Amino acid sequence: MALPSPSSPAVDTDWRTRAGAVIPGGASTGSKRPDALVGPDWDGSPTHFVRATGCRVVTTGGAELVDCTMALGSVALGYAHEGVTRAVTEAIAHGNVAGLSHVLEVEVAERLCQVIPCAEQVRFLKSGAEGVAAAVRIARASTGRSLVIGAGYFGWLDWWSHAAGVPAGAHEDFRAVPFDDVEALAQAARAAGDRLAAILIEPVIERLPSPEWLAEARRQCDALGAVLILDEMKTGFRLRTGGFQEYAGVDTDLAVFGKALANGFPLSAVVGRERVMRAARSTWISSTLAGESAALAAARAVLDAHAASDVCATLWERGDAMRRAVERAIEASGVAGVHVRGIAPMWLLDLGDDRRLSRFVELALGERVLFKRGAYNFASLAHDATAIARMEAAARHALTALGREASRA
Ligand SMILES: Cc1ncc(COP(=O)(O)O)c(C=O)c1O
Repeated sequence: MALPSPSSPAVDTDWRTRAGAVIPGGASTGSKRPDALVGPDWDGSPTHFVRATGCRVVTTGGAELVDCTMALGSVALGYAHEGVTRAVTEAIAHGNVAGLSHVLEVEVAERLCQVIPCAEQVRFLKSGAEGVAAAVRIARASTGRSLVIGAGYFGWLDWWSHAAGVPAGAHEDFRAVPFDDVEALAQAARAAGDRLAAILIEPVIERLPSPEWLAEARRQCDALGAVLILDEMKTGFRLRTGGFQEYAGVDTDLAVFGKALANGFPLSAVVGRERVMRAARSTWISSTLAGESAALAAARAVLDAHAASDVCATLWERGDAMRRAVERAIEASGVAGVHVRGIAPMWLLDLGDDRRLSRFVELALGERVLFKRGAYNFASLAHDATAIARMEAAARHALTALGREASRA
């Protein structure tokens, strides 16, 4: 079926209604559900796109939005990046899968070992959730233990989730601890003792962690013979090419990369020390399309971009400019209780309560800027001065309108 052209007068609600009828919740990615985009009081804001280039997205209704979410941080070079698109197109034209492994699987693994501090060996999968589950499996196989302590979000799979439909037994060997709480981590590790297989850390949750917390994680793993795993899904190819471990000088045993690794193409990588990674051979981790070459070609193009220039330095600069633009808008609006949190390459808006945040996102969408509700906005190379000026104007308009609405209420 043909998609509407951007100039067609298609009504966006058609797509929302159609999606809701055939896709439970309206979208297969949680953050893209209509009620997650703008909040439960959804009013007809856009939900579907037909084209995306740079940081701009053309909706089914024909509006061109500046996108601050960058597909949940999976795109850092920009949508439809020329080098990535060319590499992927070429890979597809040459047959992206066959009965043998593609040479790109080896080449990209070698290149990851050159740029990620802990990487001596690599296994590829498709989603981040799969990658983290595989890292946990490798750590368990390597230590012969099962208990995992974790701080962060690790995807939708059963081994750590408490969502409806997950049998209680599935996550009984997982202990969640709060981010950056040294004492809670030490206590959980003491309680685990020689049953501890791994400490799994998402290294940035709205802010950088303290060096003490990271040191405690390393110390407990060394003392108990457990494996330290960093989940670099959001931080890899963003804070530094080699992720948070390169940025903060963390000595980790394993790490998991995804998202920006392949600039929007489905690829995750479990990387780590050979002495731990070798356990991947003694268990069973395999997926039919894990070594599919289109996503690997995208990753090689991303690695080329990082080799050609300091992509991450630019992401910090652009993210900083985005944040400052929103901070200027907050000041100009005079609305109190609005803050920008996070770090430059991945930052969040805090409006104090959810309803206000939802209304802000809705009003900003009216000004053709998509801010993320309740999660990160991600910088990309495509956030140029024009896009950032539009963000500032949209944020100022939305906040000023919010202020007016509040004074009328
Ligand atoms: C830290 C972290 N780990 C794991 C995941 C899961 O990745 P995916 O959604 O690709 O399965 C995410 C996704 O947002 C993430 O942010």
